Formats: sequence, C-alpha cells, structure tokens
Amino acid sequence: MRRKFVAGNWKMNTDTAKARDLASQVVAGLAANPAWADKVQVAVCPPFPYLAVAAEAIKGSKVGLGAQNCHHEASGAFTGEVSPAMLKDSGCHYVILGHSERRHKMGETDAQINHKTKAALQHGLTVILCVGETLAERQEQRTLAVLKEQFHHGCHGLSREQMSNVVLAYEPVWAIGTGHNATPEQAQEAHAFLRGRASEEFGPEVASKLQILYGGSLVPDNAPQLLAQPDVDGGLIGGASLDAGRFLKIIEAGAR
Ligand code: PGA
Repeated sequence: MRRKFVAGNWKMNTDTAKARDLASQVVAGLAANPAWADKVQVAVCPPFPYLAVAAEAIKGSKVGLGAQNCHHEASGAFTGEVSPAMLKDSGCHYVILGHSERRHKMGETDAQINHKTKAALQHGLTVILCVGETLAERQEQRTLAVLKEQFHHGCHGLSREQMSNVVLAYEPVWAIGTGHNATPEQAQEAHAFLRGRASEEFGPEVASKLQILYGGSLVPDNAPQLLAQPDVDGGLIGGASLDAGRFLKIIEAGAR
C-alpha cells in the first residue's frame, strides 16, 4: 500500500517571516490532527534563502523539507548554483527536479534533469521528478508520448534501488497556476500510464511502490476527487500551499 504524499512548492514566494509562519502553521495543523500525519507524508519546499528558517520551524515534527532545484556538481566554481550536498546540509530530505517552470522558462533539458537526479540521489536526497505535457502537446494527442520520453530520460541509468528514492509528479503544464486542473479521469490515465512505464523500465515491484503525485491547480475543492484516484498518490501543490489552511485541507483530503 502506497502512502499518500502532499508537498508544498512555494516557488519564488514568501519572505523570512512568512516562511517561518507558514511552516509553523503546517506543523501545528499536523500536530492537532495526528491521524493525518499517520496517513500522509508532508513536505514544504521553500526558496533557498528560507530553507534554514523553515528547517528550524519544522524541527522535531513530521513535516519534511525540500528544495526546488539543485546543480549536479557537489561543489566548485558554479556561481549562483546550489549543490545537493548543501541541500542535505541545510536539512533537506527532498528536491524537486524537472519542474515545468525550469524546463520551459529556464530551458532545462531532459539530459540536465537526469544529471541532477543522479547527483541528488547520490547525496541521499529523495527526488520529486516532475513530468507533464503542454497544452499544444495534449491537443496534438501527444500527452502519453511526452510522458514516456520525460520519464525515460529523467530516470535513465538509475538502479531499481535508486528508484525507491524517486517520487514522480505528473504536472500538466496547462494546469499549473491556471485554475484549470486535470479532471480525475485525465489524471488517472496519465498516472496509470506512468506506472506502466515504470513497470516496463524497472519492473513491477518498483512500479507498485512508486508514489506518483498530481500537480496543477490542486486545491481543497478538487482534492477529494483527484486524490481518490487509484494511481494518484498525493499532490504537489503550488498556489494553495501558500495558505496553511488550504494546504492542510488538501492533506486532510489525502488522509481520507
Ligand atoms: P499550482 O502549481 O498548484 O499553483 O498550479 C503546482 C506546481 O507548479 O507545482
């Protein structure tokens, strides 16, 4: 049985005070509802400057810490970059890689994402690897082909053991930050397809354990239907994770 996982991707939002408050409110919400924490793994992913603040706020709690990106090298002359080792040292357990905003706004390629994934895994991080089609790709009926490619290249060369530290996030680009979420049927189709690809490439055992999160305008109103789909194992939440009350409602939906 796969555990549900709800992660908040704060993107380039918050400041020191807001990061501290938000993380503390999530901790308090989970402490007040221990049954949720038993059923749902929870993480917050603040911007780099607020990792330490959030790490302090979640200390001793069931809330995990994640970053939103990393470089593939461990250290050196890479001005402006942050290494997986630094993330570990800052208290991170997770790193989001291959987010569509990095693929489409920063030009990250599948090869770079694969490089980063390997480096993050080598440094003991759990990778939340994002895949998802654009609107044009969906309209051209290329959704499953795009998912197949992104999954194949993103996880290329990983061992079965390493795959146990990979979480997939299906995030259709047209649903991110738009208020237009995928329907539960669309999400289920994509998730079941990705699990099939995982089984094909890494075997049925890896596939059955793989957590696949849905992301893209996931909010308290649509969370119960989306999270009830058999292959939807949780959510990667952007906008709604910036409000502790809304984020906790999604966690509650995941605990049902
Ligand atoms: P959204 O973002 O929930 O604001 O659509 C999700 C994401 O980009 O991870």
